[in-house]
Amino acid sequence: MSEQLQAIRGMNDVLPAEIGAWQHFETCTRDLLTSYGYEEIRVPIVERTELFKRAIGEHTDVVGKEMYTFTDRGGDSLTLRPEATAGIARALISNGMLRGARHKLWCIGPMFRHETPQAGRYRQFWQVDVEAVGCAGPDVDAELIALGTRLWQRLGISGLRLEINSLGTPESRREYRARLTEYLRRHESILDADSQRRLTANPLRILDSKNPQMQELIRGAPELTEHLDAESRQHFETLCATLRGIGVDFTINPRLVRGLDYYNRTVFEWITQSTGAQNAVCSGGRYDGLIAQLGGDATPAIGFAMGVERLVALLSAAGRLPAPAHPDLFVVVSGEQVAGRALELVEGLRSARPRLRIELNLGGGNFKAQFRRADKSGAPLALIVGEDELARGVVAMKPLREQSGQSECPVGELAPAVDAALALLARPGSAPAG
Ligand code: HAM
Repeated sequence: MSEQLQAIRGMNDVLPAEIGAWQHFETCTRDLLTSYGYEEIRVPIVERTELFKRAIGEHTDVVGKEMYTFTDRGGDSLTLRPEATAGIARALISNGMLRGARHKLWCIGPMFRHETPQAGRYRQFWQVDVEAVGCAGPDVDAELIALGTRLWQRLGISGLRLEINSLGTPESRREYRARLTEYLRRHESILDADSQRRLTANPLRILDSKNPQMQELIRGAPELTEHLDAESRQHFETLCATLRGIGVDFTINPRLVRGLDYYNRTVFEWITQSTGAQNAVCSGGRYDGLIAQLGGDATPAIGFAMGVERLVALLSAAGRLPAPAHPDLFVVVSGEQVAGRALELVEGLRSARPRLRIELNLGGGNFKAQFRRADKSGAPLALIVGEDELARGVVAMKPLREQSGQSECPVGELAPAVDAALALLARPGSAPAG
């Protein structure tokens, strides 16, 4: 027997039983983004490796350790996108969409990072990414955060904590970085291996360490918010005041630094306690320098990305999902000779009633087996297309979830008869007369 093929570790199938939750999440998200004026954009899953190196930063974990990079047949180094912001910035530049224009964009799709898989952390995972390009003021930051908060409310997801911070300008961050490095060097002997490695390349990430032994050292570290330049401080204060004004709860976390290098000023994250260590369900921030850094016109921007698997898991746990869809009608076919005629009738009904969900019994089977399938399908009504009935120019209908008898209708009146039977069944406690 040949060996059974397995999926790649950390890359999941989304099965039909789970797809309802995904679609519910996607529909709510799309509707809300549209109502805030965001437009969908679709960018390639593969980009030049150079794009991610320049945008995300060579010393980040994402670029240094996690990218799926390969050389294509033309000899180019390409990478499966680890996130969407870089690709969207590239698309705005290469399609000539900047020149002072403003854009509110979103996209959904799979991202790829070679991390160690565990619950809530995958190597292929989906993000809904949202970007507001062209505005520098804290009003955009506040609206974006309000949008996220409203989405959790609409989805019925509670218990998320919003953490925000300001990273200031690249200059103030550089100054802070020097102070932090000085502090950490004084305690170098107690740094864990990961932090030792980060000390020269990316010391701010040490503040993000989950190692309990590092927490005391981190608590004593100088705080970024104390070293902000005056404009960044003003920006942050206005944002906090605006959020308070619109009733959005948040916590200032001076150690929130984010793992991608392109951020400046506002950064934020929604955290849940329920998915263990993988607790960030949506994260983002301002990246005013990125577009110019990639060769475009200097354009301020801010955005965030949600981890779809993590949010779908919360949605499912909250039990706030719509009931799974079932067919309206299951068509039982009695007699092998009538299979072609049954399909013809069903196709006619599909043309007449495009919104009706109809499941036609395919592949034969005796009457009993077909009714078992009909029951399992969840349809409220069965249509029976039989040789005898067709000879008389009629088809039969039978409610499946009520104890009432069979009725018949002329083949030529099938569509209105199905409408009437379904309307009656939709009323609690009633069934069509037998
Ligand atoms: P990020 O924090 O790297 O930011 O990822 C955003 C979200 O994606 C996380 O909060 C998490 O929910 C989810 N996520 C990340 N890695 C994984 C994983 N391995 N498995 C499952 N879910 C994961 C960004 O990607 C930025 N591009 C966000 C952004 C947009 N900033 C500005 N605009």
